[in-house]
Amino acid sequence: MSEQIIEGHRIGVLFSESQIADRITELAREIAARKPERLLVVPVLKGSFIFAADLIRAMHHAGLSPEVDFMMLSSYRAATRSSGQVQVLRDIESDVKGRHVLLVDDILESGRTLAYAKDLISARGAARVYTAVLLNKPGHLAANIGADFECFKCPDKFVVGFGMDMAHQFRELPFVGHVLGPAS
Ligand code: IMP
Ligand code: MG
Repeated sequence: MSEQIIEGHRIGVLFSESQIADRITELAREIAARKPERLLVVPVLKGSFIFAADLIRAMHHAGLSPEVDFMMLSSYRAATRSSGQVQVLRDIESDVKGRHVLLVDDILESGRTLAYAKDLISARGAARVYTAVLLNKPGHLAANIGADFECFKCPDKFVVGFGMDMAHQFRELPFVGHVLGPAS
C-alpha cells in the first residue's frame, strides 16, 4: 500500500485516482443499461459531492441526460461512529412523482442514511429509486437496504478522501485512503 503524509497524518492509499476513474466509467454504463426514465440524480451531501460530480459526467458519456438535485442529510457528527439519527438539512426542490431517481452516496455502512432517503423519495411517489455508492462497507448493516450500484467493497476501516472526511479534514484527496496514524 502506498502512503502519503498529509497534515501530519500518514494516509494509506486504498483506491487510487485511476482505479476510481475506471470503475466510475463502468458504473455509468451499468446505470445506462437499466434504461432509467426521466432520471433525477440526487447526490446525498456532503460526502458524495466528488463521486457524484464524476459519476454524472460519466453518465453523460454513457448516453444519459439526467436532471440533478441535492439533498443534505446528516447522520454523522464530528465523530467516526454513526449516531443512528438522520436529519434532513437540505431537501430537494424537484417533484419526483412517477420518475426514476438515483440516490448517490459516498459509502454504505449501517445503511440508515440511504434507507431514510429512499423511504422519503418513495413516499413522494417516485416510480423507482436506485442507489449508487462509491464504497460498500459490509458488516454493519442496520437497515434493510443494499446498493444497486457500487464501485468497490470497502475494508472495515475508517476511510477518507474523494469527498469523505474525518472531522472535516481530507475531503479534497483525489484517492480513497485510510488514516494510519500520526507522522513521526
Ligand atoms: P450509514 O448511514 O451508516 O450507512 O453511514 C453512511 C454515512 O456515514 C456516509 O454517507 C458517510 O458520510 C459516513 N461514513 C461511514 N463510514 C465512513 C468512513 O469510513 N469514512 C467517512 N465517512 C463515513
Ligand atoms: Mg454521507
